[in-house]
Amino acid sequence: RAQRLDALLAASPVIPVITVPELAHAVPLARALVAGGITTLEITLRTPVARDAAKAIMDAVPEAVVGLGTVLTPADLETAHALGARFALSPGATPDLLRAAAASDMVFMPGIATPSDLMQVLAAGFTTAKFFPAVPAGGMAALKALGGPFPQARFCPTGGIGEADAKAWLALPNVAAVGGSWLAPEAEIRAGNFSAITERARRTLAALQ
Ligand code: 3PG
Repeated sequence: RAQRLDALLAASPVIPVITVPELAHAVPLARALVAGGITTLEITLRTPVARDAAKAIMDAVPEAVVGLGTVLTPADLETAHALGARFALSPGATPDLLRAAAASDMVFMPGIATPSDLMQVLAAGFTTAKFFPAVPAGGMAALKALGGPFPQARFCPTGGIGEADAKAWLALPNVAAVGGSWLAPEAEIRAGNFSAITERARRTLAALQ
């Protein structure tokens, strides 16, 4: 499981955090991101259409590696499993969620914001965590500091990251990937401006070279 997660993050170190407003947006949005070179997609469970959107993308866009985000409970994790999601992420971690995730074969990234959070996640057997909310919780300086006592931990920071600083985050030795909603802004999705989304994805990846 940990190896599958490492492979997934290595293949696609920039993960859009996607909140799909309406089902009709799902497939064109996924196609726009894939056209821009971004294939690993986090669909958040924040809108009523999230499950159907994830399913529609899995069916229509085979290049996309679809994960479910905003997984808050064991039931959400079960939803991810039932849908056939390739991975699941949480902004945090509860003992119940960590227990369920440890017992499941779903590739799962719990979220942490403090050393105590991280200690619980490590104790449950997870060495890669989402760092959320990355910028408000201390930004790059916080992640550098966490590298001291926790050299084995790797992170996917999200929350407040944008196109301009993705590269700097990825340059930190304990960062495996970065994520954020900046890659799929709601206004552009609603306006059907999918070419802007493709263009930004391309630009973001090019800047990492
Ligand atoms: C997440 O769930 O990872 C965040 O909502 C992403 O944060 P952002 O909107 O600041 O990118």
